[in-house]
Amino acid sequence: MQPPPTNSPTTGNNPDLAISVRSVTKRYGSLTALDSFDLEIKKGEIFALLGPNGAGKTTLIRILTTLMSPTSGEAFVYGMNSAQHGREIRSLIGVVPQENSLDRYLTARENLELHARLHSMEKKTYKRRIDELLELFGLAGRQHDFPDTFSGGMQRRLVVARALLHEPKVLFLDEPTTGLDPQSRRAVWDYIRTIAGKMTIFLTTHYLEEAEHLCERVAIMDHGRLIAMGSSAELKAKLTGGATYEIEFAEGSEHYAKILENMSCVGKFTITGRVVDVSLERWECLAEVITALNGAELRRISLRENTLEEVFISLTGEGVRE
Ligand SMILES: Nc1ncnc2c1ncn2[C@@H]1O[C@H](COP(=O)(O)OP(=O)(O)O)[C@@H](O)[C@H]1O
Ligand SMILES: [Mg+2]
Repeated sequence: MQPPPTNSPTTGNNPDLAISVRSVTKRYGSLTALDSFDLEIKKGEIFALLGPNGAGKTTLIRILTTLMSPTSGEAFVYGMNSAQHGREIRSLIGVVPQENSLDRYLTARENLELHARLHSMEKKTYKRRIDELLELFGLAGRQHDFPDTFSGGMQRRLVVARALLHEPKVLFLDEPTTGLDPQSRRAVWDYIRTIAGKMTIFLTTHYLEEAEHLCERVAIMDHGRLIAMGSSAELKAKLTGGATYEIEFAEGSEHYAKILENMSCVGKFTITGRVVDVSLERWECLAEVITALNGAELRRISLRENTLEEVFISLTGEGVRE
C-alpha cells in the first residue's frame, strides 16, 4: 500500500544541511531495521551515531551512501535523494565501511590509485594527494606492500586514507576504530580532529569516549529508532539526572543524610559510612544542598560527572546483543 502523501517537500532543499533523513523505514523481510527514522545533520558538523549491535546504524549508512534504498521514506545528501542520485552522491562522499574492503591483490598504493581512477581524478592530482595521505597516515614506507601484510590498524588507516582521497564533502565512518589498539585509535581520532570543519563527518561507534571527544552532537539509537540526541553534556544532564556529588563528612553523616534524602531536588542517594552520594536533577539544586549543609563538618565535596557510557547503558539496557 502506498503511504499517504505528506506536505513535506520531496527534495532536501535546505542548503545548510549535509544530511537529511525523513521518516526512513527499512525492512529486511519481517525485521524492521530502521523504523520511521528522522535525522538532520548540518554541513561541517561532526556527528556520532551510537547504538548496540543490530541497532540499525550500518543500515542507515548503507542508505545514505546509496548502497540500498529505504523501504519507505527519503534520505538526502546535499539535497539529493539517495535513491535517485547515486552517482552524484557517491562523488561527494567518502566511505569507511564497517568491514575493510581493500583489494588484497593490489598494493596499498595501487588500492589508492584504483580509487582515484574510479573517481575520475587526474593522474597528476592523485599522485600528489596519494603521497600526502600515505605520509599523513604513516603508510609511506609500506605503500608497495599488500594489505594482508598490514596490522589491523594500518589497514584501517589505509581505508580512511582512501575515503579521503577525492576530497569528499561528507565522510561516513562506520565503526572506524573498532578492534584497533589504543595508539591506532588515537591516530584516527587525531586525523578526524584535523579535518574537522572542512567536511561533514558522520561516524558510528561503540566507543562512547570517542563520540564524547570528537563530536558536537551525538545520537543514540536502538531497535531502528532514535532514543536520544544532543551534545554529550546535554545527554548526560538530561538522561541520568545531571551530576553526582560525593560528600564526605568528618562526622554527622547520618544526620545530614536524612536532611538531604528528603530534599525534593535530590535524586539518587546512597550513604556509605561517612560518604554520602547525591545526584542532583539540576545544577540549581547545588546551592540548596550547600545551604542545607550549613554547619556540617565537611571533609570533601567532589563532583563525579555521569559518563556517556552510563547514559548509553541506562537507555539501551545491560543485555548483550547479537
Ligand atoms: N542484509 C540483511 N538481511 C537481513 N537482515 C539484516 C541485513 N543487514 C542487517 N540486518 C539486520 O538488521 C538489523 C540492523 O543491522 P545493522 O544495520 O547492521 O545494525 P548495526 O550496524 O547497528 O549493528 C540487525 O538485526 C541485523 O541483523
Ligand atoms: Mg554496523
